[in-house]
Amino acid sequence: MAAHRLVVASLFLCCLAEICYGKVLFSSLKTTLVVTASPKQGQVLSSGVDKISGTWSLNKAFPAGTDSSYKTIKLKLCYAGISQKDRAWRKTVDDLSRDKTCQHKMVAMHYNASNKTVQTYDWLIERFVPQATYFVRAYAFDSNDVEVGYGQSTNADKSTNLFEINAISGRHATLDICSICFSAFSVLSLGVFFYIEKRKGKSQK
Ligand SMILES: *[C@@H]1O[C@H](CO)[C@@H](O)[C@H](O)[C@H]1NC(C)=O
Ligand SMILES: *[C@@H]1O[C@H](CO)[C@@H](O)[C@H](O)[C@H]1NC(C)=O
Repeated sequence: MAAHRLVVASLFLCCLAEICYGKVLFSSLKTTLVVTASPKQGQVLSSGVDKISGTWSLNKAFPAGTDSSYKTIKLKLCYAGISQKDRAWRKTVDDLSRDKTCQHKMVAMHYNASNKTVQTYDWLIERFVPQATYFVRAYAFDSNDVEVGYGQSTNADKSTNLFEINAISGRHATLDICSICFSAFSVLSLGVFFYIEKRKGKSQK
C-alpha cells in the first residue's frame, strides 16, 4: 500500500515538474523572427573555410511588445529533412528538449528590443560540422532560457533555401592529393632501388 502511494506521489511530482519546467513544443512557438542565411539554394560550402552570414529581426506582422520577454537570440545550424532520413540522432521532435534538428550553435547574442536594425552574424563553419544539407534557425529565449519564438531561413516545410556543407575543405583535399602522390612516389622509388640493387648484385657475380 505504501509503495503504491509512493508511485502515485512520484507520478504526480513528475507531472508537476513537466508543467513547471515547461516542456516547450516547437509547434507552440510563433514565427516572430525573420531570419536569413547568406548561402543560395543548393550552394555547397566547405567547413573550416567558408562563412555563413545569418541575419535576424523581429517579424513586423506581430503586435508591439511581442518581444518584451526576449533576452537572448541563439542562431543555429539545422539539418534539412534529406539529411535526417534514417538518422535517429538528427530526428525532429516537437518537444524541444529532445529535438535533434538544430545541433550546431552559431552564436548566442543579447536581444535589444530598442535596436530595430537587422542583426547580422558571420560564422566560420566549424571543422567538425558533418557533411549534410542545412538551413539556419534562430530561437528567442526569455530570462529563464526558455524558447519563446523563432524564425528560420527556410519555409515551414523546410524545403526552400537549403544549402550543403562539405566536410572536406579545399585545403584538406590538396593535402590528401599530396600525400597520395608522395606515397605513390615512395613505392615507385623503392621498386627502382631494389631493381638497381638486383642488377648490381647480378653484374658483380
Ligand atoms: C539597445 O539599443 C538602443 C538603441 O538602439 C541603445 O541606445 C542601447 O544602448 C542598447 N542597449 C544595449 C544594452 O546594448
Ligand atoms: C544596433 O545593432 C547594430 C547591429 O548589431 C549595431 O551595430 C549598433 O551599434 C546597434 N545600435 C545601438 C544604438 O546600440
